[in-house]
Amino acid sequence: MTAAGMRMRPIRLGDVSYPYHYGHDCIDDILAALGEYDADRFLVVTDDNVLALHGEALLEGLRALAPVEVLSLPAGDGMKSLGHLAGHLERAVAAGATRRSVVIAFGGGVPGNLAGVLAALLYRGVRMVHVPTTTVAAMDSVISLKQAINSSRGKNHFGTYLTPQAVYLDVALLRTLPDKQLRSGLCEATKNCLAIAPHAIPAMRKLLADGDLTAPESLLWLLEESLAAKTGVTAKDAREQGSGLILEYGHTVGHAVELCDQKLRGAQGVSHGEAVMFGMLVAARIAAELGVLTADEVAVHDELARALGAPLTVPAGITVDEIMATVRSDNKRGYMTAGPDEAVMVLLRGFGEPLGSPDLPLVTVPLRLVEDVVSGLLPAAARLAEEVAA
Ligand SMILES: NC(=O)c1ccc[n+]([C@@H]2O[C@H](COP(=O)([O-])OP(=O)(O)OC[C@H]3O[C@@H](n4cnc5c(N)ncnc54)[C@H](O)[C@@H]3O)[C@@H](O)[C@H]2O)c1
Repeated sequence: MTAAGMRMRPIRLGDVSYPYHYGHDCIDDILAALGEYDADRFLVVTDDNVLALHGEALLEGLRALAPVEVLSLPAGDGMKSLGHLAGHLERAVAAGATRRSVVIAFGGGVPGNLAGVLAALLYRGVRMVHVPTTTVAAMDSVISLKQAINSSRGKNHFGTYLTPQAVYLDVALLRTLPDKQLRSGLCEATKNCLAIAPHAIPAMRKLLADGDLTAPESLLWLLEESLAAKTGVTAKDAREQGSGLILEYGHTVGHAVELCDQKLRGAQGVSHGEAVMFGMLVAARIAAELGVLTADEVAVHDELARALGAPLTVPAGITVDEIMATVRSDNKRGYMTAGPDEAVMVLLRGFGEPLGSPDLPLVTVPLRLVEDVVSGLLPAAARLAEEVAA
């Protein structure tokens, strides 16, 4: 479906593709495009914050096109559960959804993932479009076919692949993001620079040091860099099970910290992007311990993490044991043979240069080494190291 006043970039993931339409102040263009779907009903999967902030901007125009069922829950990763998925599916059927209905994933990566699994299951698959409202969703999760919800033991344990019909982004919606959330997506964009597109590192350092991150031109530059970096990888590996695993840089310890902090502080805990940035600090130090990454390269990781306001130490209240318990059940273990005392991780031997093979950029790392590095980043240990260095 077209969106006249917006820019468009095709997203090619293996043998599927879909258009990514984006612009500034373009809700009317988005609504015009949605009108072309000939939907008998829209199922809007969102969260209560997004609904309160931007619901009317979308819903008023949407209701003029077809009946709308709003499936909203309190914000937070806890939404990505089997219980909430079942609740939404039952409500969709009770509301009269059919195979001609269209699911709109309206919000960040959390409602986006829940919407993706819902769209894949409802009548064995109905059409879905993304209308992302966070930087994480706009610059990362919608450029993926992966859709998953969490088990009680870990993140993204139940899921599937789903090709959306299209993505429609109005960067004006990102303006209401709290600073922490805005920067969360920029952590993922930074990951793309470090692991895939090192040519963009200088511009990223400059933007983070003295740029206006909410200016439309900054957001559009970040979006275009993210689209280029991510699709450069996923075009060859749509399922992110081979070369695309480079996108998991920072995610092994990052996911563990995100999950532990979520249990401790709920939605107030570290954001997904912040957790991934912290995971990259751990991965960089492990690579340095293994002698493949230089101290200067680790320092660039640190500079970017500091500029993004990401945690430089393990968030207070989380123990190394808790982190390691989740690292042990990380879902990358299935991609290669690893012993019971090893983790499977993405490590860099230089910016844009992963260890392992181009087709499988993963290596096994002794859990002991992961534990030592994480322990060295406990708040007290980090303070002590600074004092010794001073
Ligand atoms: N499928 C993938 O490939 C993929 C990739 C990256 C992340 N993810 C998933 O995405 C999730 C994280 O996404 P997220 O960071 O967008 O989280 P999120 O969806 O929870 O959004 C974060 C917070 O921002 C609020 N918010 C959303 N839009 C807003 C706006 N415009 N203004 C003000 N507040 C707004 C939300 O209500 C929420 O409180 C994780 O569950 C992660 O696993 C998936």
